[in-house]
Amino acid sequence: MPTFGKVPCMRKMKAQTKWRIVIIVGVLFGLLSVIFPVDHTNPPVTGEIEAPEEVMAILRQSCYDCHSNETVWPWYSYIAPASWLISRDVRLGREEINFSQWSSYSTKKQNHKRKECGEEVEEGEMPLWFYVPLHLDSEMMSKDVETILSWSKGALHKE
Ligand code: HEC
Repeated sequence: MPTFGKVPCMRKMKAQTKWRIVIIVGVLFGLLSVIFPVDHTNPPVTGEIEAPEEVMAILRQSCYDCHSNETVWPWYSYIAPASWLISRDVRLGREEINFSQWSSYSTKKQNHKRKECGEEVEEGEMPLWFYVPLHLDSEMMSKDVETILSWSKGALHKE
């Protein structure tokens, strides 16, 4: 228990007591997960975005978990408190941009959202910082940023 060791009152505790605390906390979060479950549904894909394959590959890899109806829900998304945080990000992310319902946006809105994608990626705001260490293949390499940027500026169209 390296972290417990740093807390003075914990250091004196018997190993058995420490384990009891760990188990009680675990059971508590388990119960909270059952009492306050989150919605893991993926609504149907009604009109997916169309973009060049290299753009689609990046969006699918780095953005779809929060900005589409094809979210891959990891096991920890079922366990409180992670479950609450993750479902909130997916809900807000889908509200902001949903690549699975892209065709329901007006052309004006699509162009605006596309521009925003370029800006967010260029500033390193997206994907959200805590998502990347949990999904290493979602990391945006400078080549990926360039691809999204030129697509967002309209330089890359669907062939
Ligand atoms: C872990 C979930 C998550 C991932 C992954 C993610 N986003 Fe987001 N995104 C959000 C959330 C939540 C919001 C709304 C709140 C905010 O702006 O932080 C958002 C907002 C946005 C916005 C609107 C920003 C604004 O302020 O107007 C854009 C554009 C965007 N995301 C693009 C992307 C792109 C492009 C990717 C992939 C490269 C991506 N996001 C990956 C969760 C995510």
